[in-house]
Amino acid sequence: MTDGFKQERITRRQLLGAAASMGVVALGAGLLSGCSSRSGDSSSASSTLSAKQGEATSSSSSSSPSSSSAAPTQGTGKALVAVFSWSGNTLGVANRIVEDAQFELFRIEPAVAYTTDYNEMLQVAQDEQSQNAMPKIVGNVSNWDEYSTIYLGFPTWWGHLPQIVKSFLSEHDCAGKVVYPFNTHGGSGFASCLSDLAAACPNADVREGLSLMGDSVQSSTSQVDDWVKKNA
Ligand SMILES: Cc1cc2nc3c(=O)[nH]c(=O)nc-3n(C[C@H](O)[C@H](O)[C@H](O)COP(=O)(O)O)c2cc1C
Repeated sequence: MTDGFKQERITRRQLLGAAASMGVVALGAGLLSGCSSRSGDSSSASSTLSAKQGEATSSSSSSSPSSSSAAPTQGTGKALVAVFSWSGNTLGVANRIVEDAQFELFRIEPAVAYTTDYNEMLQVAQDEQSQNAMPKIVGNVSNWDEYSTIYLGFPTWWGHLPQIVKSFLSEHDCAGKVVYPFNTHGGSGFASCLSDLAAACPNADVREGLSLMGDSVQSSTSQVDDWVKKNA
């Protein structure tokens, strides 16, 4: 949807200014450094991963997760990749996980489409956060109980889990499930996303996550592959 490189540069500049005015010191520091030092975070890689390809293959959200073959099981049930991605970076990672492990994919999408304008999106996301809004999502995972493992993907938005991911979690109880978070960002890593996640699903078994710079997704296939291999 957007040029990742250009977007990350805009992100750093704009978010720094806004974060500073909001007193979000940690976020500002993360964006300034251009990379994250948080645990589970990484940005180097060596092969090719196409976020655009991901967008093309998974552009619609439906109540039935999509998969080219029967989903392998993890633990006592199946594994599902559920992802929210506004500009395609996190979706690129999600598609690689699906490719690697043949898991099913569910896209978390807003019932009322988000703006495609970057500056407007910054404001909308900030408003959603300050109001603790729970935007409605398109569809639900109808066979949710069949999944014992959820790979949950999202971008960092204003240092936090996007509100729409909280909406998804409020409608899909992760109690008793294993959750592997994966994330893309513009420099601040997971920031507060993991504590948001723990608060949103306190009875889930949240495992070590994978966090990548949004502009390095295309060159991070090996890291994604290693992470999937380690966990699947
Ligand atoms: C509304 C909004 C808020 C963002 N907030 C942050 C942030 O707090 N920290 C950060 O490092 N990047 C931030 N970014 C950059 C995104 O996390 C980054 O571009 C990510 O790779 C986008 O993933 P996506 O393409 O899957 O939507 C923000 C981007 C948007 C649109």
